[in-house]
Amino acid sequence: MLTKDAQRLRIGVLGAGPISQFAHLDATRKARNADLVAICDAAEDLLARMAAVHQPTRTYTDYAAMLADPEIDAVIIGVADQFHVALAQQALAAGKHVLVEKPLGVSVEECEALRASVATTQLVLQVGNNRRFDPGVAFARTFIHEQMGQVMALKAWYYDSFYRYTMTDNLQPIPQLSAQARRPAGNPKADKQRYFMLTHGSHLVDTARFLAGEIVQVQARFIQRFDAYGWFVAVDFASGALGHLDLIIPIQGDFEEGFQVFGEQGSVVARGYLPWYHKSSHVECFSARDRQYHRVLGEDSYTYKLQIEGFADAILHGKPQQGATVEDGVAAMRAMVAIARSVESGAPVQLAEVSGGV
Ligand SMILES: NC(=O)c1ccc[n+]([C@@H]2O[C@H](COP(=O)([O-])OP(=O)(O)OC[C@H]3O[C@@H](n4cnc5c(N)ncnc54)[C@H](O)[C@@H]3O)[C@@H](O)[C@H]2O)c1
Repeated sequence: MLTKDAQRLRIGVLGAGPISQFAHLDATRKARNADLVAICDAAEDLLARMAAVHQPTRTYTDYAAMLADPEIDAVIIGVADQFHVALAQQALAAGKHVLVEKPLGVSVEECEALRASVATTQLVLQVGNNRRFDPGVAFARTFIHEQMGQVMALKAWYYDSFYRYTMTDNLQPIPQLSAQARRPAGNPKADKQRYFMLTHGSHLVDTARFLAGEIVQVQARFIQRFDAYGWFVAVDFASGALGHLDLIIPIQGDFEEGFQVFGEQGSVVARGYLPWYHKSSHVECFSARDRQYHRVLGEDSYTYKLQIEGFADAILHGKPQQGATVEDGVAAMRAMVAIARSVESGAPVQLAEVSGGV
């Protein structure tokens, strides 16, 4: 049984493609404090099919027309990365709050321009780093911040699986595609080194920052063999803690995201699952206070819904933003670009010094 709050955020979803079909449309409808008011997609056939399933109050083929709708408070932008910043800028100019898919954009400059625009408004912009809403990850962060004392080191990893489509084909509805879908010029997915960093690295970097704070420098090594791409990254956090990030896309084995954090008064070990299982990461936090491991059940781990609820709570009730802010989006972009530059040069790269894209 769905129960809804009396006060709800009125959302228009831009994009009726796979990510909206698998997550945003259903998640908006299920969120306790949001309503799916509109769907917008330039592809009329897709729009009609998604409207028939999800029954928004209205539909738009024109984004500007949806933004002009006074009964919409916020938009979710679920389209190709290359379009994120321009479409988010347009939404802010129309006075709408924005939940934009990760990564925030494709270059440091455009992300920073967006940050400057957000600063001129009272609007909330959140980036779709849904892992922050995994109950295990959130539990680890609270433990690290409130009980672990000084952090010494963090290791985090993210491995996609050669077999993930066998799993996702079962977990997700059959995707509806359209020949009319609006896509960026060329094929941004053709350059896999770049595409994998943007699409998967954006999660890894954000999780590391969410847990251990600002990253100031990286030194990365890269390997590509038999259709697999691997990055081993040494990280310096602003706190002085050391970090190590592994990104391997894909591996011969199961999908896995995880981390270990070592601190003064405790440690954390976490293993996360393919997000489409909507299952909380298995997270154990050892506390020196009681010499016990602590774990959360996380019965509601629909992270795509929880991120909408967090977004709506920030807007409707001024609650602190648990989701990634525009600052976090810029920082993640800088980290990914720094990793790419370090792979090219072999040298350590300061995040403050990078420009351009991955
Ligand atoms: N958070 C996650 O776990 C996760 C998982 C998968 C994908 N994503 C993100 O989702 C995004 C890609 O989503 P997708 O695969 O559904 O994209 P897609 O390109 O397949 O579909 C986007 C849809 O939006 C429509 N569209 C684009 N621009 C439009 C405009 N200006 N006006 C009207 N309609 C427009 C297109 O017609 C298309 O139907 C990427 O940013 C990716 O990183 C996130």
